[in-house]
Amino acid sequence: MKILTTGGAGFIGSNFIIYMMDKYPDYNIVNLDKLTYAGNLANLKSVENIPKYIFIRGDICDKETVKKAMKGCDIVVHFAAESHVDRSITGPSVFVETNVIGTEVLLEVAKELNIKRFHHVSTDEVFGTLSLDNLKEKFNESSPYSPRSPYSASKAGSDHLVRAFIETYDFPATISNCTNNYGPFQFPEKIIPLFITNALNNKPLPIYGAGLAIRDYLYVIDHCIAIDLILHKGKLGETYCIGGDSEKNGLEIADTILNLLNKPTTLKTFVKDRKGHDMRYAMDHSKITKELGWKPTVTFEEGIEKTIEWYRANG
Ligand SMILES: NC(=O)c1ccc[n+]([C@@H]2O[C@H](COP(=O)([O-])OP(=O)(O)OC[C@H]3O[C@@H](n4cnc5c(N)ncnc54)[C@H](O)[C@@H]3O)[C@@H](O)[C@H]2O)c1
Repeated sequence: MKILTTGGAGFIGSNFIIYMMDKYPDYNIVNLDKLTYAGNLANLKSVENIPKYIFIRGDICDKETVKKAMKGCDIVVHFAAESHVDRSITGPSVFVETNVIGTEVLLEVAKELNIKRFHHVSTDEVFGTLSLDNLKEKFNESSPYSPRSPYSASKAGSDHLVRAFIETYDFPATISNCTNNYGPFQFPEKIIPLFITNALNNKPLPIYGAGLAIRDYLYVIDHCIAIDLILHKGKLGETYCIGGDSEKNGLEIADTILNLLNKPTTLKTFVKDRKGHDMRYAMDHSKITKELGWKPTVTFEEGIEKTIEWYRANG
């Protein structure tokens, strides 16, 4: 089995490659990554000398590079993206280039090369926002698309392209829409690694607005397990929603981290809210639980402690 992983030097991609190389030592894994600010080869130190792992530096928007990287592969797992909402607000164009055009290039090449299975990694943010008034409501596979940031709009565009390839060409693809991940190797611009690294350095923790926006958190290895299951047991043409059953708002994240690190609550600093801030994401993962037997294995309490330990050791 030979798998092309795009964006494998990023947060989730590097966790996925390490997880897969450990679980399937016979598999060959090619990692195509442009190494933007978010890509870090140090994440992959533990596998870099394994002959079955190959790194190619390149852009998913460049068809010739993609062809070379994909040739001979059985499966594509597509992580590569511009992934930070705040950056998409100040500079949306690279989000359209990588997330929309890059995905289209990958799909075209995968179709030409008769790739057996293409898995597209996407986000719950494509569904827009849930209200804080009805905390029982969750997104699921039938939720309408309603993206509200340039990031989520570009990811929605990529999902639609994958769906269009499935419908138009009977293209062998699956999609997963997952909630917020946290864990080792995450670039410290997202809330959890930012708050941990700031707290470790006695710097303020910037909380958007009143800190009430809720995200559903999933430890990154549980996301890797879900993708592994979809690759091996998932039905082609299907979408799977992946969630952490662990909803927290910004204040709760700050308080948990400060408490675990024994730091003063005075480090909490309230800053101007993000433009168009989605107030709540939550995912109903009953389909993947019922059909593929997946559920989160790491509680938020365990996951946040492991994550803090990792940032302490890898400052
Ligand atoms: N982080 C989350 O909480 C989360 C949740 C759900 C879904 N996702 C999705 O999972 C995927 C991975 O997210 P992440 O948090 O690991 O992102 P990340 O920003 O940490 O990593 C992205 C990787 O893609 C690479 N990349 C960017 N542009 C590229 C290009 N044009 N060509 C080749 N490589 C390129 C970067 O160098 C980096 O290594 C994304 O598609 C994201 O939308 C993320």
